[in-house]
Amino acid sequence: NYAELSAKNKQYVWHPFTQMKDYVAQEPLIIERGEGIKLFDVNGKAYYDGFSSVWLNVHGHNVPELNQAITEQLDQIAHSTLLGMANVPSILLAEKLIHLAPKGLGKVFYSDNGATAVEISLKMAFQYWQNRGQTSKHSFITMNNAYHGDTIGATSVGAIPLYHQVYKPLLFSPHVIPYPYPYRQGGEEAAVQATLSSLESLLRERAHEIAAMIVEPVVQGASGMIIMPDGCLKKIAELLRAYDVLLIADEVATGFGRTGKMFACEHDGVVPDIMAVAKGLTGGYLPVAATLVTEQIYDAFFADYEEQKTFFHGHSFTGNPLGCAVALANLRLMEERGVVQQVAKKAIDLDQLLKPLRDLPHVGDIRQKGLMAGIELVRDKETKEPYHWNERIGVRVCQVAREKGLLTRPLGNVIVFIPPLVSTTEELADMIRILAESIQDVTTGDTRSD
Ligand code: LLP
Repeated sequence: NYAELSAKNKQYVWHPFTQMKDYVAQEPLIIERGEGIKLFDVNGKAYYDGFSSVWLNVHGHNVPELNQAITEQLDQIAHSTLLGMANVPSILLAEKLIHLAPKGLGKVFYSDNGATAVEISLKMAFQYWQNRGQTSKHSFITMNNAYHGDTIGATSVGAIPLYHQVYKPLLFSPHVIPYPYPYRQGGEEAAVQATLSSLESLLRERAHEIAAMIVEPVVQGASGMIIMPDGCLKKIAELLRAYDVLLIADEVATGFGRTGKMFACEHDGVVPDIMAVAKGLTGGYLPVAATLVTEQIYDAFFADYEEQKTFFHGHSFTGNPLGCAVALANLRLMEERGVVQQVAKKAIDLDQLLKPLRDLPHVGDIRQKGLMAGIELVRDKETKEPYHWNERIGVRVCQVAREKGLLTRPLGNVIVFIPPLVSTTEELADMIRILAESIQDVTTGDTRSD
């Protein structure tokens, strides 16, 4: 029962991204089951999954076709390794991924979460130049406020001070250029200009020692859903190519239809050299990730053993058959149901639904691409003065939303809205109603600018 589970949870579990001192002072939410786009706690209360269980759910929960793919695979085998041997679903999934990915990507290297897919991307980019004898190319470029996961390499290319600062002595130091943030950089043109000019001057001086740049394409997620203006990614890709620096696209959050295209790179017609995917790959069912590379990258590792160009990297669960089977079923279902096209359509509805929220006195900016949205709350709309981090305005809004039956997590002062891709327009409307009410409940009475 609830009381017993709650006590054991507090006694034994250390939760991720959670200050446990705050957490144990509250009654925990304990999820028991899911159905469609709703989650149910052990007391039977229903909640919309307004953040897709941390940005990964595609078809909803407890989907018969996906459940079946897992049970069928389970009757064969749950796990066997990819180290030096193969299994059936990982082969079929790799073929499918290459067909869906931007043209030019030709090989799939599996792992089991976003951070490992990024870690692998970084190591491959580094070793690519080593294997080609260009040993001076050993550093990386990342973008201000980037988030690529929590392992040490991924943390090194992370640039959110709250998450990353403490580990600095432990990390390698990439070059950091600004991610365009039009709301706080004087509009789209100025923001894009700032990004491109700092990239270009960096490349002009340092390209000879830079292996790759890692980018969250089109939407920078964890920094608060910051959106790159159209064409910016393409310009970045062109500059990198001109200076012979690899492009790593971290599509962990944006991949598999989230932004209204199968991959966000497609908005700008960009083909990265290396692409990391995870989250939505299995429909949000099981932890499978992949790093996709061009044949050119792969070929730099393909050599006689004595040349010592092997990519010595792998995880115990790399290519897990259960995960690959459900990923394959997820991608088939996405195609059958035209999920990506549906997202593109529903994005227009969501834009309409979000419009009235722009008039709320403490909503500074609303950013949205596909079904990936962030609502930035500000203390003063005129001056764009942020709420002080200590006020935890985002946390308070999300607490009220939870009482009203919608789950999401804030990113600082930004309310995240990333519903499952199959959410209907009616469901979107109901979720936005709850969010609007929650924002109003928490921010009214804040007299400084009402
Ligand atoms: N890359 C990107 C662009 C991501 O957004 C994420 C996770 C990762 C990599 C890492 O993937 P993972 O290792 O988790 O599978 N910490 C924030 C939200 C992070 C969102 C998850 N993104 C929070 O407290 O809500």
